[in-house]
Amino acid sequence: MNIFITGGAGFIGSNFIRYVLDHRNDAFIVNFDNLTYAGNLENLTDVSQKYSDRYVFYRGDICDGELVRKVLKTRTIDVIINFAAETHVDRSIISSDVFIQTNIIGTKILLDAALDAKIPLFIQISTDEIYGSLGPTGKFTEESQIKPNSPYSASKAAADHLVRAYYKTYGLPAIITRCSNNYGPYQFPEKFIPLFITNALEDKPLPLYGSGKNIRDWIFVDDHSAAVLAILQNSRPGEVYNIGGGYEKENRDVAEEILTILGKPMSLLTFVTDRPGHDLRYAMDYTKINRELNWRPQMPFDQGLGLTIDWYKEHTDWVNRIKTKEYLQYYELNYGFRRVLS
Ligand code: NAD
Ligand code: TYD
Repeated sequence: MNIFITGGAGFIGSNFIRYVLDHRNDAFIVNFDNLTYAGNLENLTDVSQKYSDRYVFYRGDICDGELVRKVLKTRTIDVIINFAAETHVDRSIISSDVFIQTNIIGTKILLDAALDAKIPLFIQISTDEIYGSLGPTGKFTEESQIKPNSPYSASKAAADHLVRAYYKTYGLPAIITRCSNNYGPYQFPEKFIPLFITNALEDKPLPLYGSGKNIRDWIFVDDHSAAVLAILQNSRPGEVYNIGGGYEKENRDVAEEILTILGKPMSLLTFVTDRPGHDLRYAMDYTKINRELNWRPQMPFDQGLGLTIDWYKEHTDWVNRIKTKEYLQYYELNYGFRRVLS
């Protein structure tokens, strides 16, 4: 099975590549990634050594249709899985141009290339955030209304609509997956869990937005990979699958758990002004994938968080190399305008 993966040098893509190569010895992976600030080939050093005969990397932009077509011709591709995206909500609030470019235009260019090359399957990796925000009760199903609230989630929702349209209009065999918040090794430390772990390790404040009562449905990244692999093996074009972790947690509780595990003082918790348009709560109903594919998340949250914290403790070099000038400028920009509330 030849799999063309975009965005494979990022957090979920790199974990997925490792997961597939470990679980399917007939898999060959073509990883196509333009290495933005979030793309890091260091995430795949072990993979490129262990699986040098089943893994190849091409640096390229999904918006470059000519290059995408060229790389698609390097072997007979069975499936394209599109992980490539701009992914951070806060960055999309500061400036959304690149989100529109990569997440919408880039997806359209990939869809056109997939049609031209008659690729048998296209999987779009989407997100629960396209559904918008839940109140205190209920869960998102695949039938929930699409009501994105941030420029990031709006760009992902637009991409989902394009994927659906290419399936309906041109018969492109496509599937959409929508997963909740992932955590685990190799996540860029601008996202909540790795930011809080790395700040706590350096005795820096943990900036909780607003009340700290917003809720996310956390899933360990390998559980997400297992779900995508099951969907790929089952291959039912036209379907949408929700994927969830089943661990709904308030941000404040997660932050306190991180501090407790690391033996750091609760005084590091710092309430700062809220994110504009901050979604209150996400929770995924994953009945459909459970019923059809017998998939369910396996990793208990406490155990997954412990593993993740251990990984960041053991990979301080990885973290320090990421803290480039660009990272520090972004950090300054995002937190510079947030008022400390307590
Ligand atoms: P990430 O930001 O860690 O990685 C994104 C990768 O895409 C990087 O390697 C980057 O270099 C690459 N990329 C960006 N623009 C590109 C372009 N124009 N051409 C080629 N490559 C490009 O993101 P992630 O957290 O691993 O998320 C991967 C996918 O999963 C995204 O589509 C995201 O929307 C989706 N998703 C993420 C989560 C989550 O919790 N992180 C949850 C649900 C869905
Ligand atoms: P994030 O990791 O950015 O994921 P998303 O917004 O896509 O769900 O944020 C997860 C939650 O943590 C979200 O409710 C916002 C909150 N958060 C903070 O309180 N402080 C922070 O510094 C960050 C980055 C996020």
